[in-house]
Amino acid sequence: MSHPSPVTNTRKADFPIDAQFTERWSPRAYTGEVISEADVMSMLEAARWAPSSNNAQPWRFAVVLRNDPQWDALFATLNPNNQAWAGKAGALVAIASYQLAAKAGTPDLIPNGMHAFDTGAAWAYMAMQAHLNGFSLHGIGGFDKAAGAQVLGLPADHTLQMLATVGKRGDAATLPDALREREAPNARKPLSALAKRGSF
Ligand SMILES: Cc1cc2nc3c(=O)[nH]c(=O)nc-3n(C[C@H](O)[C@H](O)[C@H](O)COP(=O)(O)O)c2cc1C
Repeated sequence: MSHPSPVTNTRKADFPIDAQFTERWSPRAYTGEVISEADVMSMLEAARWAPSSNNAQPWRFAVVLRNDPQWDALFATLNPNNQAWAGKAGALVAIASYQLAAKAGTPDLIPNGMHAFDTGAAWAYMAMQAHLNGFSLHGIGGFDKAAGAQVLGLPADHTLQMLATVGKRGDAATLPDALREREAPNARKPLSALAKRGSF
């Protein structure tokens, strides 16, 4: 069993926040340990409580543990640069959004313009709970979404947004050279570049 190498976290918040926000980061080295369905469900339970427009809760998740029958086919959809590190994750959680929502007071379904935005909030909740539970997550947008949709039986009125690798952080020494050098918490733009008073 490899032990995670210590990382130097130079992240500094511009304003006071809870430490979990700067301590969560997305490693690429995983231990290769299988993770349990219950471990993943705890993360998804947090995602369930995310806010959404009209409380439509458009997020949907397909959980594939590394010894599940869908693993190989789903892994094969990843871009080569992501296959180079993601193979030791304990699970892949596909995150999709449902494009429709009930029209208030009617049995009709209408387009939900906020489905992607709201599903992003659920993903963030999931990532924070994973961090609090001692797991790491690393999102993957670089994969063949049409192929992934087919592997997972995604309904036509859903959009596949991202795959989340989930697992126990492993030793950076197991990574290819170029990735090993990047295996540390990264930085952020200053808040002053992102937020202004009264206008954008
Ligand atoms: C929607 C989304 C797609 C991403 N796609 C990839 C990807 O294809 N490959 C990768 O190595 N990292 C990917 N990432 C990880 C981001 O690069 C990472 O979250 C960002 O650099 C911030 O770093 P942090 O999560 O460690 O704070 C993705 C993240 C998100 C949210």
